[in-house]
Amino acid sequence: MAIREIAKNIYAVGATDWDIRDMHGYSTRLGTTYNAYLIIDEKVTLIDTVKRYCLDQLVSNIKEIIDPAKIDYIVANHIEMDHSGSLPEMMEIIKPEKLFCSTMGKKALLDHFHREEWPYVVVKSNEELSIGKRVLQFLETRMLHWPDSMFTYVKEDGILFSSDAFGMHLASSEIYDDELDSGLLMREMAKYYANILYPFSPLVNKLMKAVAEMNLDIKMIAPDHGVIWRSHIDTVLDAYNRWSAGESEKKVLVIYETMWDSTRKMAYAVNHGLTEAGGKELAVKMINLKTTHYSDVLADVLEARALILGSSTLNNGMLPTMTTFIYYMKGLKPFNKLGAAFGSFGWSGEAVGLMSDILTELKFEMVEEGMKHKYVPTEEVLAACAEMGRRIAGKVLAE
Ligand code: FEO
Repeated sequence: MAIREIAKNIYAVGATDWDIRDMHGYSTRLGTTYNAYLIIDEKVTLIDTVKRYCLDQLVSNIKEIIDPAKIDYIVANHIEMDHSGSLPEMMEIIKPEKLFCSTMGKKALLDHFHREEWPYVVVKSNEELSIGKRVLQFLETRMLHWPDSMFTYVKEDGILFSSDAFGMHLASSEIYDDELDSGLLMREMAKYYANILYPFSPLVNKLMKAVAEMNLDIKMIAPDHGVIWRSHIDTVLDAYNRWSAGESEKKVLVIYETMWDSTRKMAYAVNHGLTEAGGKELAVKMINLKTTHYSDVLADVLEARALILGSSTLNNGMLPTMTTFIYYMKGLKPFNKLGAAFGSFGWSGEAVGLMSDILTELKFEMVEEGMKHKYVPTEEVLAACAEMGRRIAGKVLAE
């Protein structure tokens, strides 16, 4: 992240990672940032650090403002290595008087770095810390998305340092939401939510209510990845409320992979039925898993009401990209969805049943019998696929 004074004497000093294209399976095709923030007050405070290989960027950014040795406190909002990887080096450089973290944060720091001698100070929700002219308020956000996660709120400036929440993987020279296209930002935030926070949606929903009850006067949300929100805060909070409640759009996805073109023909027929019956009221998207990364598909899954999955059968199973996608999706626990499956096969035809079983395990409402056909689909089969699309479109629109 480019160095910038985001409020008087509060600076963004984190690192921009233009090169990264994968983070534990998440396609970071637009790069990312590891945001860290420096507050100059009577007790100079650094909030979060950066990934280990970005240490130089962090140190050099801080040096433009102050000698790092003059930092008194470090607040570790989150211990995952993209935010704590450079902490051991920063502890050596800074030698802070205190290192603030949650109860689970201290445990995680010890498990990662095995440094009993660090000056840990464990803080709990609603605990306050005066650093001079400002008061920091802590809010534990356990399992959002790690046990150690917490927010730090600076009352006087109305800045919520939100760790991973409300973040996105996007490298840019711009640092504020109003400096970039809002459609791009919402898409990337949705992708981030779907790939990182989706399994914890019930907890996110509770947290959103708790934050609302705290009546914080939030002027900025400063996450640990991507842009700082200052102009679209209500939109962002509303999106998290909707996603965590399992609300969806009038949107249907046809997600497929094909072996010898038969399943693709079925997919296009389903799509034809959906678009014909859905008209302008229904968003329909075809996603070929050979050409779309599974982590990008999840951004669409988040907002879709229905998923229609198609795969040919290969070696008694699904095609490899469908196997990868569906097991990845299963771990993220999407909920409140309608489902259906289809596919072509040669002699055994297990793929449709396997996809249906996993969707059923996820408690999707299966709205159709699985539609499978041996080898190349006839006109009658394609007409039946289109009819299935029409029925699903009708069901979604009728809700
Ligand atoms: Fe950006 Fe959970 O680390």
